[in-house]
Amino acid sequence: MCSPRRGPDVKVRGHAAAVRASLSIDELKRRAAEGAVAFVKSGQRVGLGTGSTAKHAVAAIAERLRSGRLSDVTGCPTSTATEEQARAGGIPLLPWNGTDKLDVAIDGADEVDPSLWLIKGLGGALLREKSVAVRAQTFIVVVDESKIVTKLGTKAPLPVEVTRTSWRAEARFLETLGGKPALRGGEERPFLTDNGNVILDVRFVGGIDDPRAVALALDARAHVQAHGLFLEMADVVFVASARGVRRMDKPEQQP
Ligand code: A5P
Repeated sequence: MCSPRRGPDVKVRGHAAAVRASLSIDELKRRAAEGAVAFVKSGQRVGLGTGSTAKHAVAAIAERLRSGRLSDVTGCPTSTATEEQARAGGIPLLPWNGTDKLDVAIDGADEVDPSLWLIKGLGGALLREKSVAVRAQTFIVVVDESKIVTKLGTKAPLPVEVTRTSWRAEARFLETLGGKPALRGGEERPFLTDNGNVILDVRFVGGIDDPRAVALALDARAHVQAHGLFLEMADVVFVASARGVRRMDKPEQQP
């Protein structure tokens, strides 16, 4: 492994399908983000997500602070890129790895299933994103409709962040779970996360049959620093399509 680098994002299969009308995908993402930012109130601590959709939420919060529609909002960034954007926009920041509770967090996702279970991490920020999301009282997800799936793992690979020295062993372990792992960026120039780890992108043929079992198995691995299964975490998802923005709410828990 030599010359580690920060590589390009992995693409989701079938992402092109989203818009047949005149709206661009970026405009859809902006509209979804606007729906989420309406949740943010003055005085709140807000988790700031990472990616091409979440960046619109960060921009909208910064704009509301500048115009006076919001005041005394503090952000908690999920990546160095988001931290830079928030600082440039004048949003006061908390450290990502603090222990403070957050009122709300807004972030994108790579897949959303009907239970609002997610795959995240194609942008490489999954560890910080999970750290921030679990501290938020309300976790809001913003996506365009290409991210909606009936079964997790059917479009996107599952990103698994592992320590640099252990990726081969973790790749073998992931194969025992039925996955086909690939080191992001390749062995010559692996992608490095903000935390200095590498990512295995794991394809599951036909999708992930039992996301909870996979998540539990990965949670028990010492060299797995984070994985992209965000289960039972999202409270609300704003989905933008050419027909408008719709809201999905977390299903009621079964007794
Ligand atoms: C970052 O690590 C990811 O979890 C992103 O939140 C996710 O990839 C969604 O990104 P886009 O909004 O750019 O599709």
